[in-house]
Amino acid sequence: MSETITCHVIDDDPGQRSAMSSLIREGEVTLIGLTEVNDRVDGQKMKARLQGEIAHAARISILGELAASIAHEVSQPLTAIGSNTEATQLWLESLPPNLEEVRELTARTAAEVQRAADIIHRIRAMAARSAPEQVRMAINPVIEEAMLFLRHELQRNDVVVSLQLVDHLPEILGDRVQLLQVIVNLAVNAIQAMNDTQITVRQLLIRSSLMTGHWVQITVEDTGPGIAPESRERAFERFFTTKSAGMGMGLPICRMIIDAHRGRIDFDNRSDSCGAQFKIVLPSCLSESPRIE
Ligand SMILES: Nc1ncnc2c1ncn2[C@@H]1O[C@H](COP(=O)(O)OP(=O)(O)OP(=O)(O)O)[C@@H](O)[C@H]1O
Ligand SMILES: [Mg+2]
Repeated sequence: MSETITCHVIDDDPGQRSAMSSLIREGEVTLIGLTEVNDRVDGQKMKARLQGEIAHAARISILGELAASIAHEVSQPLTAIGSNTEATQLWLESLPPNLEEVRELTARTAAEVQRAADIIHRIRAMAARSAPEQVRMAINPVIEEAMLFLRHELQRNDVVVSLQLVDHLPEILGDRVQLLQVIVNLAVNAIQAMNDTQITVRQLLIRSSLMTGHWVQITVEDTGPGIAPESRERAFERFFTTKSAGMGMGLPICRMIIDAHRGRIDFDNRSDSCGAQFKIVLPSCLSESPRIE
């Protein structure tokens, strides 16, 4: 007689599938249990894929927004390479050729080439349409990379960056580019908020720290006007924006990404002074509970 059992097929596991098929053939279980579970798994996969697509579209939009800064960033090492090459030629043509200068300039040129390659690598990573990954990573280098990515934008807007990152935090599991995207989004919001005011000190403070239960916390603070009282309830709503050229997608996408990493993101205005403070908590590879309740 056929019997309905609860079958937990977590993924497309061929071993599990063939075991289930023989049980089904022998009439020991009904197919319904398996189909239901597979639908749930397919639904989760579909959800992850859609989230990846949305995050990718938003990254392209950030790249568009930062196009002028990115062009400037790339042009800097190219300009340096150009002038180093001219100087190298002059030293080679001098009599006798100054090989010591040539050696030093060549080393400087190689360093600029590497700098240009790193910038292009970062842009390509942001532009790539890759499936969301689940890799172990340290969060501090992600924060540092976000600052490198925004280096020119921060300089252009006179923003002083202060990083207070705790060493030896446990690793977290997730998608590196998506987490980079979250930090970039929050930093861009902070830059834009500080641009709106007449404040003299434009400071972006990013901290990482360890919480109880091996959770990792990241805070992003600015010295702008803070979140307006009338925006507090709606800041994470899709298409909510107070900016003339804003889309209102930055914060909802941050929340989508952090939720997918089983973390939490929220904000508050700083109590010590003006400015907004965004707080992210993420489970680390050492956390017992995979989800904050
Ligand atoms: N650091 C901040 N300080 C003050 N207000 C902020 C800050 N970050 C976000 N906000 C408020 O939250 C709103 C929503 O932010 P969100 O990033 O979702 O959209 P946006 O920045 O307006 O547009 P975009 O889609 O280009 O990111 C902003 O329009 C702004 O009013
Ligand atoms: Mg934004």
